[in-house]
Amino acid sequence: MRVPRYHSPAALAGIILAIAAVSYAKPVTYGLPEVTFTFRPGPGMETAQNNCLTCHSVDYISTQPPNRGKAFWEAEITKMIKSYHAPISETDAKTIVDYLAKTY
Ligand code: HEC
Repeated sequence: MRVPRYHSPAALAGIILAIAAVSYAKPVTYGLPEVTFTFRPGPGMETAQNNCLTCHSVDYISTQPPNRGKAFWEAEITKMIKSYHAPISETDAKTIVDYLAKTY
C-alpha cells in the first residue's frame, strides 16, 4: 500500500506563514468616484429608475452637461434602444425623455 506523503513540518510552517501573510496584508485603498444608483427626484423618476440602470449607473446620465434639452435626451434614449438594445417601451421612453429634460 502506498503511504500518503505529508508535507514536512518546515513546509507546513511555510504554508501557515503564507496564509497569515495574506490575511494580515494591509488593505490597499484607492479613490474611486462614488457610483450612484438613484435618480434625482421628479415626475417620471421611477420609470427612469426601472429602465436605465440595467446596464450602467446613473453617472452616465448625471455627468452629462446640464440643460441639454429634450432633443438630446430623445437621441440618447433612441441610441440606448437602437444601438444597445435596451428593452424600453415607447411610452416609457417618452416619460423618461420628459423627466430627464426637466430634471437634468
Ligand atoms: C441595454 C443596456 C442599456 C440600457 C438599458 C441603457 N443604456 Fe445607456 N448606455 C449603454 C451603453 C452600452 C452605453 C455606452 C457605454 C460606453 O460607451 O462606455 C451607454 C451610455 C449612456 C450614456 C452616455 C453617453 C453615451 O451616449 O454614450 C447616457 C447619457 C445613457 N447611456 C443614458 C441612458 C438612459 C437615459 C437610459 C434609460 C432610458 C439608458 N441609458 C439605458 C447601455 C444601456
